[in-house]
Amino acid sequence: MKRSEINGIMKKALRFLEQQKFLLPPFAHWSPAEWKAKGPECREIVEAQLGWDITDFGSGDFDRIGLFLFTLRNGTMAELQKAQGKVYAEKILIVEPGQVTPTHFHFQKMEDIINRGGGDLVIQLWNSTPDNGLADTPVMVKMDGMETRVAAGGTITLKPGDSVCLPQRLYHKFWGAEGKGTVLVGEVSRVNDDRVDNHFHEPVGRFPQIEEDEPPLHLLASDYASHCRSLNPHPKKTNP
Ligand SMILES: [Fe+2]
Repeated sequence: MKRSEINGIMKKALRFLEQQKFLLPPFAHWSPAEWKAKGPECREIVEAQLGWDITDFGSGDFDRIGLFLFTLRNGTMAELQKAQGKVYAEKILIVEPGQVTPTHFHFQKMEDIINRGGGDLVIQLWNSTPDNGLADTPVMVKMDGMETRVAAGGTITLKPGDSVCLPQRLYHKFWGAEGKGTVLVGEVSRVNDDRVDNHFHEPVGRFPQIEEDEPPLHLLASDYASHCRSLNPHPKKTNP
């Protein structure tokens, strides 16, 4: 993706979030120059990969296959292993009508997907087979505490206020319903690590390759390693 496209998506997202009265935390608004002046007090933001996350899944067509996410809070896999500390995560997503997030499941993350407002969210579901294929068995999910049965590859629709709990290894694909407007989607989950925990049915690029055609408006979480070296929890070793 071009940096100019990512900047444009950020500006549009900020307008939509304001309309929906969903406000982002302070670090969402820091410029790259402000990031450079930050010290170890911000290490949690970097370690937990909080912040902006915009991807076209390598499609080259964000409007058709893409997703806007902002990670608001998150623990680490180390905390999850200890079952102590921050073992939860929260994200806010924006999904446009017809904009698809490709079929995937998570190995360790269980997540509630919540329609927080705007249009309707359509989610297609499959159980997975032991070798990570799509099973043809019916899916049982809980929608706001109610057991719901869905045929393999069937869809559920979340209207504003509705939610569904997606357990580990349950394949899901989602998009905004046509003709219903942009959807504000919440995600509440166990610790999230998008670098290792996602399995896509068809291989995709989870993080975009970026063509730097203009300066970043705000850093993506995936920019921290290159733009915030002093805060990087795992800096590359250099010779003295
Ligand atoms: Fe997911």
